[in-house]
Amino acid sequence: MRTMTIAPAAEALDIGDEVIDGHEEVLYCHDEESGLRAIIAIHDTTLGPALGGTRFKSYDTDQDALHDVLRLSRGMTSKNAAAGLPFGGGKAVIIGDPRTAKTPELLRAYGRFVDSLDGRYVTAADLGTNSDDLDIVGETTTHLTGRTAGAGGAGDSGPATALGVFSAMRAGAERLWGESGLHDRTVGVEGAGKVGGVLTRLLLDEGANVVVADPDPAARERVSAATGGAVTLAESLAGPLDVYAPCALGATVTVDRVTSLGARLVCGAANNQLPTQDEDAALHAAGILWVPDYVANAGGVIHLAGLERLKHEPDVVTADVRRIGDTAREILSRSADAGIPTGIAADELVAARLAAGRG
Ligand SMILES: NC(=O)c1ccc[n+]([C@@H]2O[C@H](COP(=O)([O-])OP(=O)(O)OC[C@H]3O[C@@H](n4cnc5c(N)ncnc54)[C@H](O)[C@@H]3O)[C@@H](O)[C@H]2O)c1
Repeated sequence: MRTMTIAPAAEALDIGDEVIDGHEEVLYCHDEESGLRAIIAIHDTTLGPALGGTRFKSYDTDQDALHDVLRLSRGMTSKNAAAGLPFGGGKAVIIGDPRTAKTPELLRAYGRFVDSLDGRYVTAADLGTNSDDLDIVGETTTHLTGRTAGAGGAGDSGPATALGVFSAMRAGAERLWGESGLHDRTVGVEGAGKVGGVLTRLLLDEGANVVVADPDPAARERVSAATGGAVTLAESLAGPLDVYAPCALGATVTVDRVTSLGARLVCGAANNQLPTQDEDAALHAAGILWVPDYVANAGGVIHLAGLERLKHEPDVVTADVRRIGDTAREILSRSADAGIPTGIAADELVAARLAAGRG
């Protein structure tokens, strides 16, 4: 017997509609049999179906989960629009500790939840989920990206994200120093994971000096082995740097932090890099060039959407990822010409693309 209930989140969580204001559709799902509790938030489908990953995480309350998914889905509208993709913004959360709550039954039930939206939401991996999980989700829905290559998916998006960050960083260097090359610049990569590791390689090939920080000794060891000891390794990042590339946690980019690192350019893969929106103006006033996170880190979604949904050839997708550099250049020019912070310049570009999409 099916035990799944799906209802508007405002009704299921007994909160006012105003909390989800600005979203097209926000649904809460409870499946008794598997224990699934999940929320799918569709923010904006002006440019196409909502595309964004599924975060699997413990939250103190369901309301906390709702706030998180609403913030993340809004961010996906901006990321997909800035990337020039024919997709809107959406995101999902599965509520629970992925280390204990994740079962094949739960993931299949989650796939049925995704499927109930008939393609208005297309999912992918995020914190707490991975390609192996998506292979199981894919048993009950076709509305997904990011399965393993063996299951017909495009696999790890880390290398594409790294290439996008690298392209955006070159655009930032060109604006600051008049030449896009990073040769002889000192770049601090914070986080030697799936993105940071590949970014480090690209930077070394360009002739940059690279400092890589990661608290995980295994991650540092991997970088050391992959680069033949050509980088400086540390547990936490220290200056002096020319460029700071946050590729681990969010909320690390503040004027104080960047100044203490001696960096003038900030460009990395982490999501939600600014602790508050006010930091955008503060960085601008301090003469620090910040390439907005959702612009720089869109390579992963371009890779997944391009290969799996749009069925583009790999070389076309790679060219699209490199074009993040052009988008960054456009935003940095807009910021310089109008004397506005780069985050505002990026938001203006997104608003213009959505307005054009509405016709
Ligand atoms: N993988 C993608 O395609 C993609 C796409 C868009 C955004 N992002 C974002 O980019 C960031 C990195 O993604 P990833 O896939 O490389 O993740 P990952 O989990 O593979 O790697 C993250 C690394 O950061 C390290 N780390 C944790 N705390 C740190 C700290 N305080 N200082 C330095 N290092 C620290 C971890 O030990 C780990 O090695 C994440 O914020 C992710 O959300 C990733």
